[in-house]
Amino acid sequence: MLFSRDFHCILTRKEQININKLPAHVAIIMDGNGRWAKAHGEQRIFGHHNGVKAVRDVTEASAELGINFLTLYAFSTENWNRPVDEVNALMELLVHTITQETETLMKNNVRLLTIGDTDSLPPRTKEELQAAIKHTSQNSGLSLVLALSYSSRWEITDAVKRLATKVKLGELQPDSITEQLIADHLNTAKIPDPELLIRTSGEQRISNFLLWQIAYTELYITDVLWPDFTKDEFYKALITYQQRERRFGLTSEQINPGTA
Ligand code: FPP
Repeated sequence: MLFSRDFHCILTRKEQININKLPAHVAIIMDGNGRWAKAHGEQRIFGHHNGVKAVRDVTEASAELGINFLTLYAFSTENWNRPVDEVNALMELLVHTITQETETLMKNNVRLLTIGDTDSLPPRTKEELQAAIKHTSQNSGLSLVLALSYSSRWEITDAVKRLATKVKLGELQPDSITEQLIADHLNTAKIPDPELLIRTSGEQRISNFLLWQIAYTELYITDVLWPDFTKDEFYKALITYQQRERRFGLTSEQINPGTA
């Protein structure tokens, strides 16, 4: 808590968060590393390196607040088409960060998970990831989900293929396919849908991220570039989310009876 010059107390951004109204799952499209690097007269990879600090900050803030799931869009299926030097540098950065941060994840009771076509990652990246996932698997605090070689259309196509195979083998009747059954065949089967999706760098798009899961998710887009996204910026997003009225297709009066 802070005090103004006339001794009125001013709540810090963190204190303004209603701990009883936290989203259980926050997903983030981390964008703007390249532009941040350019603005600093550096190569794109410099932006990715500086983005790691923001990854650390939002992970720590989520664990401290008691958020259950944090999903970070770290590498999309489309990112494989970037210049080969940038892809290699990003893979190297992932290996380095995971190796270096595993003990911090342990200390903060954070469990690491991934979604995406992780079989397509280079062998060393895969090995380090699997080791960190195994090492942190018994942690019961925040689940940090890294979306790696992920795209929503890939994930939905994969789910449809597996459902079609079950129908072909006579294990499933087409009439038995429900929304829940489809959700159960996605990579995110055991993860609740995000209540809040944050995108940095001001771009107004979803970029093939969690298309099924964000049907009723609140969107928060900020102009801040990812390497500049601090804990305070994260708190700002949470406060904005808490001020929204989530109606899920109902009317405001249905959500708040007696206010009409
Ligand atoms: C988008 O910025 C960022 C990425 C594609 C990579 C995100 C990776 C990190 C933050 C580093 C490490 C991550 C983890 C989880 C350890 P951009 O390159 O698209 O930026 P631009 O739109 O300005 O070009």
